[in-house]
Amino acid sequence: AADISDQLTSVLVTEEQIHDKLAELAARVDSDYEGKELILIGVLKGAVMVMADFARQLQRDITMDWMAVSSYGAGTKSSGVVQIRKDLDTDLHGKHVLIVEDIIDSGLTLSWLLENFASRGAESIEVLALLRKPEAAKVEIDCRYVGFDIPNDFVVGYGLDYAERYRNLRDVAVLAPHVYS
Ligand code: PRP
Ligand code: MN
Ligand code: MG
Repeated sequence: AADISDQLTSVLVTEEQIHDKLAELAARVDSDYEGKELILIGVLKGAVMVMADFARQLQRDITMDWMAVSSYGAGTKSSGVVQIRKDLDTDLHGKHVLIVEDIIDSGLTLSWLLENFASRGAESIEVLALLRKPEAAKVEIDCRYVGFDIPNDFVVGYGLDYAERYRNLRDVAVLAPHVYS
């Protein structure tokens, strides 16, 4: 249906809150990586919006690459089985890497990615995640730049999908249970 208001129960984080938070994180990253070469690695597809908005708030030059992995398929639960759908084009050896993610849910995707990137000889690896669900953590992720800690609801929008839908919503919203049950 074209009208999605009955598919969402509430707006959790607004477009404006996201914008302000990314400006704050960008200022921290600008200062933390002063004098260092920085590569941002976005995790497709969820991180597309965060990457686009965060990178443009930086006052510095960066390079950008993308990795496509998927652990959720069409369901609402992480399978823990991470598949590479597109690998990096960049050699990470000696690079300062900042992984850009939309959300840390169970932490399984990032835990797998961090281990994978560490084996490629990066000089440093840190994580920026717009959202984090502390109650859903199955593994602890050391995330230096966190936007918002949120409750353990199924959220969509601003890159986050349910079965590939809702990624284009401007806000992050809670998906109504009737949509996925
Ligand atoms: C989602 C989300 C994160 C990951 C977080 O990606 O974008 O990458 O799950 O979940 P976790 O912490 O439990 O691993 P998904 O696998 O749905 O692929 P997508 O980005 O293409 O939607
Ligand atoms: Mn993702
Ligand atoms: Mg997904």
